[in-house]
Formats: sequence, structure tokens, C-alpha cells
Amino acid sequence: MRATIRTGLDNELLPLGRLLDEAREMVSFGDVVAGMNNLFQGLWQSRIESSTEEWRRKTTFCVHHPIRGLVHEDPITRRSYLKPRGYPGDAELLDLIYGDASANSSFGDELSPLGSQIYSFTSRDSSASAVRTRRHILSRLIDEIAPLRRHPRILSVAAVHLREASFSSALRDRRIREFVALDQDEKSLLEAMSCYGRYGITTVQSSIRPLLTRKHHLGKFDLIYSTGLYDYLNAATAHRLSAKLFEMLRPGGLLAVTNFRKNIPAVGYMESFMDWWLILRDEDELASLDSEIHPCEVAQKRVFVEPNQNIIFLVLSKT
Ligand SMILES: C[S@@+](CC[C@H](N)C(=O)[O-])C[C@H]1O[C@@H](n2cnc3c(N)ncnc32)[C@H](O)[C@@H]1O
Repeated sequence: MRATIRTGLDNELLPLGRLLDEAREMVSFGDVVAGMNNLFQGLWQSRIESSTEEWRRKTTFCVHHPIRGLVHEDPITRRSYLKPRGYPGDAELLDLIYGDASANSSFGDELSPLGSQIYSFTSRDSSASAVRTRRHILSRLIDEIAPLRRHPRILSVAAVHLREASFSSALRDRRIREFVALDQDEKSLLEAMSCYGRYGITTVQSSIRPLLTRKHHLGKFDLIYSTGLYDYLNAATAHRLSAKLFEMLRPGGLLAVTNFRKNIPAVGYMESFMDWWLILRDEDELASLDSEIHPCEVAQKRVFVEPNQNIIFLVLSKT
């Protein structure tokens, strides 16, 4: 009986073992891009062919394979896996993706030549490109809303370092009356304040819970956006939060939220070697996030995928 179970397990893991062995050989012999490409593609394939249980077992197998030592030389992969702030996708990891100067501190120990090559791969992957595109789309939204509103007020929920602020001319020119950055992570908000405080931003250290229970009295806003948060929220919370944020809009205001899309090419690598498990959604699921908002309050609803095909935007405007 034991032997049968053992053989079954081996059969399940055999192709994955081969994939990891081959990728390891390619990466360690200098064929980093091809090796990483094969690894991303193979893990993606393996994930879609597996049940949830099987995939869990496979991700455990992955992190016990010697290739982990190589891919963890990449600061993005390592930081995500180690989660020094207790959660994945923290501010410094995002800075590694954004390529901001302040990201240097995130490298920790000196970056090895191999780590640098893998970093060059992971930071150019379509998911990382999508995060940079998301930042540009946000700064555009900020700049578009500013001239349309009297004394514009903007709220960013799960703001992290508020890096989109660097690209907003409206913020730089002090055309935003009030810009509130809310996040649960105090350290991230301190960095946001030190970079953008001179443009008049204010910060609120808080989880989203008081927003959901109406304990915050932040007032009404012309633009509220939240990117990189919904990817961690279950459906019930995501729907409730959308309704609460929409309620906090002034008439004519805009709510924008995003979510990584189902089956993105990096998902297998993220879940295994980065231990980064997002709640992925499709366009229909994003479109339905307004389920707790009365339809007559919604003037316009847009759902679109950014050009890298990794992140979906839902933008609602209020009547
Ligand atoms: C992936 S980042 C957000 C990305 C960022 N908005 C951007 O576009 O670069 C996730 C952030 O969500 C914050 N966060 C996670 N759960 C939260 C919660 N329940 N309430 C408030 N902030 C939360 C974390 O502190 C972290 O800074």
C-alpha cells in the first residue's frame, strides 16, 4: 500500500522534477533568460493541469528543489518569499518592480551577478510591467480629474509609497486640495510622507476595517482608488468595500479598483518560488463588484485590461 502511494506521488512529481532540473542546469550554465522562460511556462502549465491539492504539493516540492537557491538570488523572488514585513507585495518589493532609487535598501546583501540577471528577468516579466503600467494609469486618472473638479479631494486606499504621485503633474503643481494616502503599514506611509509630503499629501494609518464599519470620517472625495489590495480580499469583502468607497464619493466622483487577472503567465512561479498567493479574478468578477451599489447611482462603468493583459481595472463614476 505504502509503495503504491509512493509511486503515485513520484508520478505526479516526475515531470515537475524534470522541469526544475533542466531549468536549474540552464540558469546555472548562463542561459538565464531561456531557463527562466521555461520555468515560468512550465510552472504555469503544471498549475493549470493540477487540482488545488496537487498544486499545493507541487509548490512544496519546488521550494525543496536546489533551483530555489538560485532563483532566490533575485531580490524580488527572495523578498516576496521571506516577507520581512509579514505580508507579500510590500512597499519595498514594489519599489524593486518600479525600479525606484529608494529600492536599493531592498537588495539586502549585495546582489550577485546571477541575482542581477534573474532580477532583470523578473522585473521585466509582464506582471511587473503591468504594475508599472498601473502606476501610470493612476497618475493619468489623478491628472484628468484635477482640472474637472473644484478643490479636488483624492483618497488612495492601500497607498504604500504612493509612487504614482511622482508622475502626477496635478499633485506637483499643488492643484489637488487634499490627497489622503491610507495604508495599514506605518513604515510605508512615513516613506510616502518623506517623498511627497511637500506636495501636501496627508496619511492615515489604518486597515480598511474602519472604512467598512463607517468608523472613519474622512469626508467625500472626487477620486478614490485602490490598487493591489483587492487581490487579497475575498469576494464578500471586495463587494462591501466597493460599495463603501463608492458611498464616499462626491457626485460625479470616480472610483477605480484593480485586480490581477486569472491565469496570468507568472502565477505558477509566484505561488511556488515567491510564496505569493493572490486572489485572481476575471473581467466578469471585476464587473460584478458593484453588486451592492444601486445601479441608478452609477453614471458610467468601465472594465478594461491594461496593455500587458495582467491587471483588470474597474472604473465607476457616480451620478
Ligand atoms: C500590493 S500593495 C498596494 C500597491 C499600491 N497601491 C501600488 O499601486 O503600488 C498592498 C498594500 O496593501 C496594504 N494593505 C493590505 N491589507 C490592508 C488592509 N486590510 N487595510 C489597509 N491596507 C492594507 C499593505 O499594507 C500594502 O501596503
